[in-house]
Amino acid sequence: MPLIEWNASMATGHMEIDAQHTVLVAILNRLHDSIQAGEGEATTALVLRELIEYTRYHFRSEESLMVHVPSEVAQAHKGNHARLIQQVREFEAQCERGEISPQELLDFLKDWLLLHITGTDKQLASSLSRERQPA
Ligand SMILES: [Fe+2]
Ligand SMILES: [Fe+2]
Repeated sequence: MPLIEWNASMATGHMEIDAQHTVLVAILNRLHDSIQAGEGEATTALVLRELIEYTRYHFRSEESLMVHVPSEVAQAHKGNHARLIQQVREFEAQCERGEISPQELLDFLKDWLLLHITGTDKQLASSLSRERQPA
């Protein structure tokens, strides 16, 4: 069973953002499968790396759209992204030292992502769609 089933409540309505979110969910599910199947530390670490790399790419992509929203809104959103990257770096190091399990890191990422998508990212998408409406 996948960790996260993509559903309409997660859609922001912005095609590019939603497409990238479905990829993030797919990688999270793959990480979950890898842990569940006991594929071993090396494989799990690789999928975790892929998840982190894709998250960075996705954040850059969203941030490039933020030129269309007020700068204080963009700064707050970028701050959320930067804090997540920082936290994940710390968690990843803890994971490597065996202080937390990959499952704990996965649970943290899942909760963060769902909250961020349904809150901050939806607000970004609706600002972008208002921006596209003729005055
Ligand atoms: Fe996002
Ligand atoms: Fe975001």
